[in-house]
Amino acid sequence: MMKTHLLSINDLDRADVISILDTAEELGKISDGASKKLPTLRGRTIVNLFFEDSTRTRISFESAAKRLSADVINFSAKGSSVSKGESLKDTAQTLQAMGADAVIIRHSASGAAQRLADSGWISAAVINAGDGTHEHPTQALLDAYTIRQNFPHFRNGFEGLHVGIVGDILHSRVARSNVLLLKKLGAKVTLIAPPTLIPVGASTWDVEVSYNFDDALPELDVVMMLRIQSERMQNSFFPSEREYSRQFGLDARRLKMQKSGGIVMHPGPMNRGLEISADSADSLQSVVLQQVSNGVLTRMAVLYQLLGGAPLTQQAGA
Ligand code: CP
Repeated sequence: MMKTHLLSINDLDRADVISILDTAEELGKISDGASKKLPTLRGRTIVNLFFEDSTRTRISFESAAKRLSADVINFSAKGSSVSKGESLKDTAQTLQAMGADAVIIRHSASGAAQRLADSGWISAAVINAGDGTHEHPTQALLDAYTIRQNFPHFRNGFEGLHVGIVGDILHSRVARSNVLLLKKLGAKVTLIAPPTLIPVGASTWDVEVSYNFDDALPELDVVMMLRIQSERMQNSFFPSEREYSRQFGLDARRLKMQKSGGIVMHPGPMNRGLEISADSADSLQSVVLQQVSNGVLTRMAVLYQLLGGAPLTQQAGA
């Protein structure tokens, strides 16, 4: 049973994950008709509290909330009183005074979502939309939904599925949430990166590690490429972008080496020409745009479950 907040994939057990994926699928069927809106969260207020830039996550949470008929307030630190020095506490209490039922927070500090949830400053449900290099749980959920959509025989678990997570694992909250979720569902996970971009603690993650992308590729059902997060790099982690691309970039040659029937994922935003070539990003193996579409349904499911929607069978167009 999901808790009050969604801060980490560790807040969910395997049954919770399957239930969210099933709910997303049902919501997709119900809201796919002429009227895309469901009345589920009418009268509820959902706040997008974004202290860091976002395209996909912010827009898809807004779209998800609106498709469930909630009122949405978009708060971005840029252009708000945060730039005048207002604290997280004062910002949160302002949102509380506005009657927020759920706060979706993205912040550059790892632990910011937990801090907000534990603070007692607000009574709203808190959803982590990415905190520093820590976690991005709804990204992992939408990725699992996308994997299940492409491998329907892995509907109730990923035992037998091999996923390679490639690139800047050190700075990636997407990688951390995906490792937790993929292992929870029984997948085999291999991290593929230069040693400098593998976190020290990864040896405790129950994953394999490879420093050779070419060797790993023929075994991979799913290749999950990660963005090189230059904005979080204070040091040099590889000799040059060209050298990184040569060893760890996905290009047309490597695309042909992947296991037959495999898919390519990327959470976005993509650095085309660095970790992924344009022809790989736009290839038939690429499910990047499916990931974006599935983000709306998966986030609808999370909002639905956290805020207690009526049984799905009673839903009708708003
Ligand atoms: N995948 C992801 O979190 O993208 P945004 O930064 O655009 O939200």
